[in-house]
Amino acid sequence: MKHLFEQGTLKDAPALILFHGTGGNERDLIPLARRISPESAVLSLRGNVLENGMPRFFRRLAEGVFDIEDLKFRTQEVKAFLEQAAEQYDLDRNNWIAVGYSNGANIIGSLLFHYADLFKGAILHHPMVPLRDITLPPLAGTKVFIGAGSNDPICPPSETEELQELLSGAGASVTLHWERAGHQLTATEADAAAVWFKQNAAQK
Ligand code: MLT
Repeated sequence: MKHLFEQGTLKDAPALILFHGTGGNERDLIPLARRISPESAVLSLRGNVLENGMPRFFRRLAEGVFDIEDLKFRTQEVKAFLEQAAEQYDLDRNNWIAVGYSNGANIIGSLLFHYADLFKGAILHHPMVPLRDITLPPLAGTKVFIGAGSNDPICPPSETEELQELLSGAGASVTLHWERAGHQLTATEADAAAVWFKQNAAQK
């Protein structure tokens, strides 16, 4: 997969694995990552799917309607890429925090729904429920920050709460942060994610 890697300056700091939103690329979330953890290694992926020229991490049939078969295939593809990248860049497999916005948060959601130990934690900005009718793996010990907008036209509050319940039900510790905003990632939400990281995920 196309990606960008930046070495960290503190060996024990978690590596941040970044996933952009629809139409973005691997450079988009670098400033956000540096706000969260300036010392961390950063591995930022570009989605392998193109929708009218816009990179995404999986196909959709319409806005908010996912191509579940493709989502499952892309979820495995990302997992395989991360395993290879861990070798290539000598990353500690037990110290990864995923960070994603919108479509990027949704592929992280699917990774969490499929694999128990891939991420130590995740920062999900405006995620949806990625798929239903699946039994989640045990997620005890996994810490998740969800940033959501109370007026988000793409992800209604009820879906945010459903995601929180699904993750918590599997044992994850979930922090839900509400913004009185829509689907956009606001500065206050980014700051809240950075505070959450320092309190929950910065230590090895
Ligand atoms: C998705 O397709 O993942 C969601 O609708 C969010 C987005 O617009 O990317």
